[in-house]
Amino acid sequence: MTSPVATSTVIRVRVNGRDVEALVPVRLTVAELLRERLGLTGTKVSCEMQVCGACTVLVDGNPVSSCTALACDLDGTEVLTVEGLAQGRDLHPVQEAFMAANALQCGFCTPGFVMMAVALLDTCPAASADEIREWMDGNLCRCTGYAPIETAVTLAAARTDDGSPEDDQ
Ligand code: FES
Ligand code: FES
Repeated sequence: MTSPVATSTVIRVRVNGRDVEALVPVRLTVAELLRERLGLTGTKVSCEMQVCGACTVLVDGNPVSSCTALACDLDGTEVLTVEGLAQGRDLHPVQEAFMAANALQCGFCTPGFVMMAVALLDTCPAASADEIREWMDGNLCRCTGYAPIETAVTLAAARTDDGSPEDDQ
């Protein structure tokens, strides 16, 4: 006799500092969990095939394409989305840098770029221009152009490397 195949599973995950327990279908994506179950619509979905980076979130500090990652694999992890970056009314230095450099137009790609930049600067606070380009390589923008985005990440890197407020995040 074959055992029944599980179609849902319970996960316990910390999202932006909040403990969440949820029964999730095994094919539910992380983006669907965040946007449809938890109301965290800052994470955007565009290509749905791990090509554009719009859906990037951090799982245990690592950038992940939430459009293809499965929610059932989040059990026991910590997830950070763009909603979890600001401390009250204080924006994260990467968010401030994007504003200062006018690094967005429609903004659809922005949460993905911002989360990738946060991961980069957490890993490599003094990121070089080449490292910034390499890390941002998987994120696509259709309207701003990449120069202001690169400027923003460079600005944020300079602040982070100087022992700026990033150190308090
Ligand atoms: S929507 Fe996930 S990579 Fe494009
Ligand atoms: S700001 Fe519009 S797609 Fe990047």
